Amino acid sequence: MQRKYPNLCRPIQIGNVHFRNRMFSAPMGGTDITADCTIGPASTAFYEYRAKGGAGSVTVSELVVHPETEGSHMYHLDLQTPGSLASFTYTADAIRRHGAIASVELSHSGQYAGTYLTDKNKKEGLCQWGPSDCVRPDGRQVRALDEAQIRDIVAAYGEKAALAKRAGFEMVMLHGGHGWLINQFLSPYFNKRTDRYGGPLENRVRFAQEVLDSIRAAVGPGFPIEFRMSGSELFDGGYDLQEGIEIAKLLESRIDLLHVSAGTYQRGFGVTHPSMFLPHGSNVYLAAAIKPHVKVPVATIGGLNDPQMMEEIIASGQADVVEMARALLADPELPKKVAINRDDLIVRCLRCYTCMAERAQTATRRCTVNPIIGRELDGMEVLPAARKKKVLVVGGGPGGLQAALSAARRGHQVILCEQHGEVGGILIGEQAIPFKLEMYQLGVTLGKLCEEAGVEIRLNTRVDRAYAEEIGADVVIIAVGSEPFVPPIPGLDDPRVVQVNDYHHRQEEIGNEVVILGGGLAGSELAVHFARQQRTVHLVEMNGELAPDANVRHRPQLLAEIDKQGIQVHCQHKAVEVGSDGVWCVDANGQRVLIPGQSVVCALGQRSRRAVVEELLDAAPLVSQIGDCVKVSTITTAVYQGHHAALDI
Ligand SMILES: Cc1cc2nc3c(=O)[nH]c(=O)nc-3n(C[C@H](O)[C@H](O)[C@H](O)COP(=O)(O)O)c2cc1C
Repeated sequence: MQRKYPNLCRPIQIGNVHFRNRMFSAPMGGTDITADCTIGPASTAFYEYRAKGGAGSVTVSELVVHPETEGSHMYHLDLQTPGSLASFTYTADAIRRHGAIASVELSHSGQYAGTYLTDKNKKEGLCQWGPSDCVRPDGRQVRALDEAQIRDIVAAYGEKAALAKRAGFEMVMLHGGHGWLINQFLSPYFNKRTDRYGGPLENRVRFAQEVLDSIRAAVGPGFPIEFRMSGSELFDGGYDLQEGIEIAKLLESRIDLLHVSAGTYQRGFGVTHPSMFLPHGSNVYLAAAIKPHVKVPVATIGGLNDPQMMEEIIASGQADVVEMARALLADPELPKKVAINRDDLIVRCLRCYTCMAERAQTATRRCTVNPIIGRELDGMEVLPAARKKKVLVVGGGPGGLQAALSAARRGHQVILCEQHGEVGGILIGEQAIPFKLEMYQLGVTLGKLCEEAGVEIRLNTRVDRAYAEEIGADVVIIAVGSEPFVPPIPGLDDPRVVQVNDYHHRQEEIGNEVVILGGGLAGSELAVHFARQQRTVHLVEMNGELAPDANVRHRPQLLAEIDKQGIQVHCQHKAVEVGSDGVWCVDANGQRVLIPGQSVVCALGQRSRRAVVEELLDAAPLVSQIGDCVKVSTITTAVYQGHHAALDI
């Protein structure tokens, strides 16, 4: 078979271990952590899902190596905690039985220990330990580790690596980047020591070298050690790429795979986990710059989700391995689809940060485009139904498409009707905003997957009760979505006002100075797009803050981008009239002010299409409603409800 992406699919030997391909699953924290800090079964399934999907290796996230100096509520592995060795063994098994290499990340957060604890009370009682005494920006005191503590931590890395190997892991990843302890020692910003661990770079790398020696002594020769570093810390006072190259050179003799990431969690979250406002592969340049200086294979990471781009990265010698985190949540089968030349069926990551925000919000994981993430134990496979039914899905937005797909995968006969000429629903409009292109592509890909699964898609078909009854479905799933909310503001019904959802086919009408009414997520993101097109943008919001509907990870990135692009924000401005020169508003002081602009875009929210729902409620014996037509919410909700409406048939 001629592989479309031969470099991605080519096996690689690292140490004595053969990896089936070069698409690795980067560490991501599982959220099922037992009271004893061991891996719970849901986390094991979370990792297994990516092994089943064909990744060359799957790395289990942060094993806390030294609980005495770091109380982060992450995985612990020792022989004192009953069940801890077993839980790691079950997890390694779950990865290995699908042909992926199981790896585990050895970690110590140092002075940032506990910043993302799930056990908030425990955090309050913690002492933070780092290379040097300091006070963190949040006011927390950090104490410098003494040499005896350093010796103890170095030994602990080795002990944990030996236990991980005993549990069946075939590689370990040493976390030396993203601002955690080893990075803190490497960094001139954090490390102010005057002993043999501080000062010149030769001293700042000593801790990392001792840790690597300790691990090597524990695991023996040939056992692959992957070192994760930030190629540059990317903030003033931190180490830069030039020093990153030197660090790599000073460590390479002790490692088997150099994994080059970027930045730090605390000072560059949106770069370390590239936000949708950055180009894909925005950190590859760091790996590419370091690679010529080392002999060991180099891995790259950051916003990668396009097989073509990843293939070229390897083909052009910028890296030997590509690693992905979020792209493999969106579609754990990405490596398999690459291998069988069906990359057109890959469901792409939106970089919406739902995965990371959900942890902060509910201490679980979710993925907007993959309803199984975080709920893998409920079933990773969509199993055939015992009795085949005829199913009518009304509405081809993300929820309807997912419902149709899951129902067809269960073997039901599925007809999906969409009133417009293409599927995608509200996502169709996103094609005009380059940094949201994946949202548009989601509709296209789900449509393709539906067709492959045998769904009959009827476009330009508006379903009323008579039409639905004629089809005679056993089940109707109503997924008719929402429509723009247009309040009775004088002039807002003027034809020159563009509804946010219509922007993609009215782009030519937008002038150089635009007023966007509504500073929610949709309006704020469109404002960024207009500003990137060199337009003068006014963002008008009635309430005191922008984008309260954005998740806790995405919102800071969005607000930073709004700031960077020089968008003129008018919060606490209530629109009262749309005039020919702009929009008249009443400000917080009750003054009438004109916000100028030739063009006006209305982004004042959505309303459920309840009338359509009401009409179809008795169109079949079993009728369910999902997504925005029930309550205006997120793509995540629509996709999740769509999947489960199909499983409930
Ligand atoms: C849900 C999630 C959890 C993560 N957990 C960890 C972790 O425990 N340890 C770590 O080193 N990196 C962690 N990361 C960072 C990823 O390994 C990766 O470096 C980052 O997401 C950039 O890759 P991506 O653009 O492919 O997502 C996490 C990322 C995500 C999305």
